Amino acid sequence: MLSRYNISLKANKQKIKEYIIYTRPSLKRIIIFIIDSCVFGFSVSFANYFASSPIPIDANWLWKCMDKKRSPFLRFLLHNWPLKPLRWLAFLLWYRNSYKYKNHAVGINKHYGISNDFYNLFLDKKYMFYTCADFIKTNDSIEQAQDNKANYILKLIDPKPGEKILDLGCGWGPMMKKIYEKTGDKENIIGWTIAKEQIKYIREVLGFRVEDVNFCTTKFEENSWDKIFSIESLEAVRPKELLPLAKKLRKALKLGGRIVHQFSTVTKDPFSPLLIWGAFNIFPGSEITTIEKHMSVFEEAKFKIVHHSIHDYRPTLKAWFDRLAKNQNEAIRLVGVKTYNMYLIFFAGSHGIFQEHAVLLNRVILEPMD
Ligand SMILES: C[S@@+](CC[C@H](N)C(=O)[O-])C[C@H]1O[C@@H](n2cnc3c(N)ncnc32)[C@H](O)[C@@H]1O
Repeated sequence: MLSRYNISLKANKQKIKEYIIYTRPSLKRIIIFIIDSCVFGFSVSFANYFASSPIPIDANWLWKCMDKKRSPFLRFLLHNWPLKPLRWLAFLLWYRNSYKYKNHAVGINKHYGISNDFYNLFLDKKYMFYTCADFIKTNDSIEQAQDNKANYILKLIDPKPGEKILDLGCGWGPMMKKIYEKTGDKENIIGWTIAKEQIKYIREVLGFRVEDVNFCTTKFEENSWDKIFSIESLEAVRPKELLPLAKKLRKALKLGGRIVHQFSTVTKDPFSPLLIWGAFNIFPGSEITTIEKHMSVFEEAKFKIVHHSIHDYRPTLKAWFDRLAKNQNEAIRLVGVKTYNMYLIFFAGSHGIFQEHAVLLNRVILEPMD
């Protein structure tokens, strides 16, 4: 057993060595690599090193490298260096005090301001969902899988014509489009997002009602919505903002109304190295918390949880990864090599995190307690 791991460790080391040479090291990148390794650990230093490569990462190599079953020693090292208290301290002091964390719109626009055309290269063509899909059959396309997910969420929301429906964090409007297909009512479905590019897209391409509203800081009108839902926007809500938001949603709901959320939660370490890398580089300002925290918030805000299910994010991440890699040249033309590399690492790394069940994808229906 041990010798098998030794061989695979040696083979890994050899591959990584080859790759480090292949990605053309410079003095600056090596210094950053050493600092990152000490402060945030090896997952972060390798991710930053490869992302900053002046040439595109070989997608096949990256996927194999991230997807590999690691020896217990390597796993221990990746998860526990630097020691948790130091990592947590770095995260809390550095990240939570950064301007991107303090201002929701700054982090969100950094992510979504890249280019709508870039996201279009790997998201499904029909809806442009940027959230976990449901692959029911193994050979489902991302288009089919997003439609499956949309049908699932549609059942949870159960929208009816004439009902006032609010999409919190509506992205490029995919679920609004799905609801409209069912109800035929465009007037009563409203999307909120603070991403300027998405607002432009929804208004110009879809013609739906969308508002530039930060749902964390805005005041909600009482008794004004029949249904409120969010699909993976709670990840951008700081843990301390969850309870005030849940209380506002409770008051904003009309009698007999319901709330549907799809969101990710951590099962182990909220500041694991790869989550830190994602928070700094991909979703600045986001912070994923535990299911315990969400459940206690829902209950404290006087909701009962009438549905809770867990879904598999891995096939979606693989589908996005493959599409992006297939569109390498166009992606680099639109956003440059570094962003292309970062997104490949983001999808492969997130797949690894879900593979270890360190993060879970949840769907809930909340109804007001009597
Ligand atoms: C991962 S995307 C999901 C988009 C869409 N729900 C989907 O399924 O594709 C997260 C969305 O939440 C929005 N968002 C995040 N924080 C927000 C906030 N505080 N106020 C309004 N929108 C927010 C982002 O702008 C983005 O549209």
